[in-house]
Formats: sequence, C-alpha cells, structure tokens
Amino acid sequence: MASLGHEVVGIDVDEAKIAKLAAGETPFFEPGLGEILTQGLESGRLSFTTDMSAAAGAQVHFIAVGTPQRHDGTGADMTYVNASVESLLPHLRPGDLVAGKSTVPVGTASRLAELIAPTGAHLAWNPEFLREGFAVKDTIEPDRLVYGVSDTTGADDTATLDAVYHTAIAAGTPRLVTGYATAELVKVAANSFLATKISFINAMAEIAETVGADVTQLADAIGHDNRIGRRFLNAGVGFGGGCLPKDIRAFTARAEELGKGESVAFLKHVDEINLRRRQRVVDLAVDSFPDHINGHRVAVLGLAFKPDSDDTRDSPALDVAVRLKGLGADVIAYDPEAIPNARRAHPQLAYADTLDDALTGAETVVIATEWKAFRDLDPHTTRDKVARPVVIDGRNILTPTTWRDAGWTYHGMGR
Ligand code: UDX
Repeated sequence: MASLGHEVVGIDVDEAKIAKLAAGETPFFEPGLGEILTQGLESGRLSFTTDMSAAAGAQVHFIAVGTPQRHDGTGADMTYVNASVESLLPHLRPGDLVAGKSTVPVGTASRLAELIAPTGAHLAWNPEFLREGFAVKDTIEPDRLVYGVSDTTGADDTATLDAVYHTAIAAGTPRLVTGYATAELVKVAANSFLATKISFINAMAEIAETVGADVTQLADAIGHDNRIGRRFLNAGVGFGGGCLPKDIRAFTARAEELGKGESVAFLKHVDEINLRRRQRVVDLAVDSFPDHINGHRVAVLGLAFKPDSDDTRDSPALDVAVRLKGLGADVIAYDPEAIPNARRAHPQLAYADTLDDALTGAETVVIATEWKAFRDLDPHTTRDKVARPVVIDGRNILTPTTWRDAGWTYHGMGR
C-alpha cells in the first residue's frame, strides 16, 4: 500500500514482529517482500507500531488478522478479528472506513457493522485472494477486487477503496461491488472450489493407481477443455496451508449452523480424499522396504505446504515426515526455507542442513513439496549419494522414464 503512494502504519500486538518489520526484516519468507518493505521504510510512508492510537486519523483501517482453525477442529477462531475491531473502536471518526480483509464466517461483516455504527465509521468487506509465494504480485496486480458494502454508504466506500487500489483500477482490474454476505462468501467459495478441484484430481489418482492409468496425462487431457482448465489439477500429496484446509472446515461448520450443512456436505469428502493422499505417500514409503520401515533411513524432501514459502501450517509434507517418524523410520527432513518453522513444531525430527546431507545414505527418498531444487535433481548424481535408489514422487515432478532408466525404483501419485 505504501508502494502505491499511501501513507501506511502497520499495527500488531506482537512486539517482536513489529520490531522486525520496523528494522526492515520480514517475519516470514515471501519472495519480493523484503525489497518492497525496505522501499516502503525508505520512502518514509511506511511505519510499524504496537500502539493502537496510531490508527487515529487514518481514513481507511484494514483488518488483516488471521482467523485460524479453532482448537476443536471446526469453525474459524474469531478472537483476533473481534479483538482488533474492539481496540480500534475508540480511534474511529465519522466517515472513516473499516475494511475487513480476513476470511470470516458469513454474517460477520453485518455484526461488525453494527458494532462500529455508533462511531459513525463505515464498514466494507474486501476479501484477500493472495497466494503465498506470489503475495506481492497478487496484491499489487490482483485478478479481481471484491468490495462488500452497505446499502447506505456503499457509493462513498466504493470510491474510497477505488482510491486505495488506484493502480489496479487504472489497469482495468475487474471490480465487483456486492453486499456483505456475498463478499464474505466469494472468498470461501473460491477456496472451496480450488480445494474441490485438487481433491477431484486426487480421487482420479486413486482410480488411476488401481487400473494402471497416469493421472498426469489424464489431467493434461481434461485440462485442454477450457471449461475445466489445467491449473489446480496437479495430483499429489494434497493441499495444505493456512487457508484451504481450514476454510473448507469453517465453511462446513458455518453452513451447518445456518441449517444448510447438506449444501456443502461434499466438502467433507474433499477433506477426506485430501488426507488419504498423505497416508498413500506413507504407505508407499512403508512398502518400499521388504521388512519393517523401523530404523531405515528415509529422506523427506520438502516441509513447507508449497514451494517458495516457509509456511508449515497444515503442511502435508511435514505431516508425512511426522507419520514416518512415528512408524520408527530414521527420517531426515530437508526444506530450503521451512526448517525453522518445522523444527519449532516438531523438534523430534532430524533436519538436514543441505539437500546433499539429506540424500546421503537415504534408502528411500520422498518428495513432498515441489521446490525447484528437487524438480532439478539429476537422477544419476543423486543415485551416487543414496544408499538405495528408491524415490516416491509425492508431487509428480520427476519424469518417471528418466529416473527408471537411471536405475531408480520410481513411485508417483496416480501414475
Ligand atoms: C490459497 C488460494 O489459492 C488463495 O487464493 C487464497 O487467498 C489463500 O489460499 P495458498 O494457500 O497460498 O492460496 O496456496 P495455493 O497455491 O492455493 O495452494 C494450496 C495447496 O494446494 C498447496 O498445498 C498446494 O501444494 C496444493 N495444490 C495446489 C495441489 O496439491 N495441487 C494443485 O494443482 C494446486
């Protein structure tokens, strides 16, 4: 936002995070974020604080806190959204715009609009669609903008948000102005659709495994139908991260509260198919040994839920490593960026400093995240490092014939 010319103050209750940001350090790995943060700080238009009173005087207040999965496994935890709006209330002036970006259960925006109404401030819901790994680009050049606004102040609030996103508006980015409930639903509907698309192709992978078909060729063939499209049809160890898994569960929980559980009951299958694929990778690793996996060295390549991210929240890769360790395997895990986060959550796992260290002496190699460094592995030189040339390609990123020709036992997902 500072790079778009706005004067921006970032506020958080986490003092360590604010101190890092103020010093120009990103608190997590995201390509391009460090550069744009430095530029923002140097421009003098960007600052960070834990002092909520710094919000006073701003024309627009974005609520961008997390809505993680509740500990009971269902629904979104609204603690941070509620707390941030409560602490903002004393600083709001008539005509200010509060713009929600968090992914929330449908019905939240109208509740928050009532809460802030006595201050004279307005509320808009402006869902965030960025992908990790592409966060900067997706923010500066979004696919679309969605503004959920009220009937009474919607025209003013739309103009305010257009001024915020002036570069995207000037570039002709599609912009949809809706009511609150629609804007809230757009986000969970989009993520549910994406999750469903991935589980659909993973379900096809299960069938392909039974009949000896190749799901990657199947995806290429059906993907040429542009009503279907090839993107998000990559079968593998399944989806993870801070959004897709928790969003489909929270949406299911909210739909049940609304008496419409039946409408999204299929999302339970989407979730189940997804979790089965993690077990499939574990089973392939177990079956790669004639005896018990206990004590055998297994290299797990990848811990982040996707490449170009250090995020291990609900990561299928980390889950596979933990399950294999639980079975007694001598797991050595490697990821270019995610080891610190993985180690915090699972100190019992052994982590390699380098890709070479992970490969050296491995009896089975499991690829669990599609980092470019793993995609670029050479089957011949890699073979010289391992104790036994067995690879389980949990992301279907290697060419099976090339690896088999180099002497490897290759197992893909649905191929
Ligand atoms: C997602 C949405 O894409 C984004 O629009 C929303 O704002 C937040 O949630 P993100 O969680 O960053 O973004 O990751 P995404 O690229 O969607 O991938 C999600 C998971 O699906 C990853 O674990 C990825 O490995 C997996 N995936 C993706 C597949 O297994 N197959 C695919 O074909 C695509």
